Amino acid sequence: MRVLMTGHAGYIGSVMSPWLAAAGMEVHGLDSGLFEGCDFGTPAPKIPERRIDLRDVTARDLEGFDAVVHLAAISNDPLGNLNPRCTYQINHEASVRLAESARAAGVGRFLYSSSCSVYGAASPDDVLDESAAFSPVTPYAESKVWVERDVARLASDAFSPVFLRNATVYGVSPRLRGDLVVNNLVGWAFATGRVLLKSDGSPWRPLVHVEDVCRAFLAVLKADREKIHGQAFNVGRSGENYRISEVADHVREVVAGSRIDFEAGAGPDPRCYRVRFDKLESTLPDYRPVWTVRAGVEELERAYRKHGLSSGDLEGSRFLRIRRIQEHLEQGRLDAELRWLGSGS
Ligand SMILES: NC(=O)c1ccc[n+]([C@@H]2O[C@H](COP(=O)([O-])OP(=O)(O)OC[C@H]3O[C@@H](n4cnc5c(N)ncnc54)[C@H](O)[C@@H]3O)[C@@H](O)[C@H]2O)c1
Repeated sequence: MRVLMTGHAGYIGSVMSPWLAAAGMEVHGLDSGLFEGCDFGTPAPKIPERRIDLRDVTARDLEGFDAVVHLAAISNDPLGNLNPRCTYQINHEASVRLAESARAAGVGRFLYSSSCSVYGAASPDDVLDESAAFSPVTPYAESKVWVERDVARLASDAFSPVFLRNATVYGVSPRLRGDLVVNNLVGWAFATGRVLLKSDGSPWRPLVHVEDVCRAFLAVLKADREKIHGQAFNVGRSGENYRISEVADHVREVVAGSRIDFEAGAGPDPRCYRVRFDKLESTLPDYRPVWTVRAGVEELERAYRKHGLSSGDLEGSRFLRIRRIQEHLEQGRLDAELRWLGSGS
């Protein structure tokens, strides 16, 4: 199977591209390279890749592929809030055009990396399945809802879109993100001894290890078409919904000498949802998630010890997506539409 992966050079993509290649797929990458140099530990193996902006992709770029795995995006809430119009252009409009182009080029399968954040502000008493109402609370989450809505309409006998709604991801990656809650809390505990909470710890959040995300995408790529055609799947693991305060407890127990602390002004977070994951597990028995948050916290602590992580790293541009983009903007490498200027492109 020939697979084109957008966003292959990001946090998930740099784990998933070798994962799919190891499963025998021919993986090609497409990325604008916003986080070039934001490396952690061993770099991802090289794959054939093109540095191109998602907004410029045409059907010709997609000819000859059996599947598209679409990861490229402005990938979190604070970054999405920087320039909401640009977030909609990249995350929504360019994603829908990419799906249209894939369909026109004869690509059979389109895996969209959606997010459980489409459920947004939900009652903590409900555990939401794929039929739950959307309640996005940010431009980022809204853009995910709109792509699902518009790309679902493109489904045909020859084109199968699938919407993989990932829980919040954690785990080691060659393009580590320090802005994801588990990675962040372990990082603070390791580098400063403080498990620093930015909310009051009460919100519920489903969490999934980056390798289990890879397992889900691989299972969908390999699945019989009728099982996945036009479907949405929550991607995570049953039993892996946590209150942030519970995650903090695990971190405190694993990272020797650390203690829980609250950032000044930490209050409730409107993003609160609990999610059910049995649909993917029962539809595709090939999908066997294996990680728990506890094991992930231990893995991160070992990796930070091995490769090093300082308190400066926690607030610097190497691991924080928003800081990296702000740095590119301030230093004139990107314009306000997040397009490369001059030799950056
Ligand atoms: N990490 C999570 O917790 C999580 C959870 C749910 C969904 N997702 C989704 O999974 C996908 C991957 O997330 P990630 O954590 O790897 O993010 P990331 O920010 O690490 O990677 C995103 C990649 O997309 C590329 N990109 C951004 N804009 C582009 C453009 N205009 N043209 C071409 N490439 C562009 C970036 O250069 C980067 O390599 C995203 O769609 C994200 O919304 C992530």
